[in-house]
Amino acid sequence: MSSEDVTIRWFRESDYAEVEDLVRNLARLFDDPFDARWFKMYMDKRLMENVPGCYVAVKGGNEVVGSVFCDILRDPTGSQYGYISNIMIKKDRRGMGIGEKLLKAALQYLTIAGVPRIWANVREQTEAMVHLFEKHQFIKKFATYENRPPPYGI
Ligand SMILES: CC(C)(COP(=O)(O)OP(=O)(O)OC[C@H]1O[C@@H](n2cnc3c(N)ncnc32)[C@H](O)[C@@H]1OP(=O)(O)O)[C@@H](O)C(=O)NCCC(=O)NCCS
Repeated sequence: MSSEDVTIRWFRESDYAEVEDLVRNLARLFDDPFDARWFKMYMDKRLMENVPGCYVAVKGGNEVVGSVFCDILRDPTGSQYGYISNIMIKKDRRGMGIGEKLLKAALQYLTIAGVPRIWANVREQTEAMVHLFEKHQFIKKFATYENRPPPYGI
């Protein structure tokens, strides 16, 4: 199988259930929490913008097989940056070039938007992910450390 009959387009309302499933599975993969109510609001807000900042990969015209988020943000110094996150391909569609197609679309959008730098969270446990981003000239800048406070406080 190849990615030839896979097209990349902006997220639409009708893709909601499939994208929710992808992001929910991604959260599960990394043992992160997923709040369905919040996610719905988050995506509804995206749909109100001219550009929703979420690309989907669609196979055969109707099956959503992957998604990626790409946003233009500003850091506290006022400097703009592009941010690519939550790239996820359906389990049975991985390794066919779809992740790369999505990443290229996100990079193209952010490059044309003129951001001076693009950041991405890359999970180093995921070999395919590291390879894909390094192939597209991402270099490791810093590491994110996580602390999970006890739920009932100190
Ligand atoms: C990481 C992920 C997005 C890559 O998408 P994909 O469609 O499977 O990858 P592609 O087929 O486009 O391959 C891209 C490159 O990675 C390589 N690759 C694919 N699977 C690989 C694997 N399991 N191990 C090592 N390299 C791999 C490919 O060979 C290709 O490199 P090449 O062009 O030099 O040959 C996808 O595997 C995925 O959804 N993984 C689980 C979710 C995840 O970890 N997301 C990141 C969250 S932050």
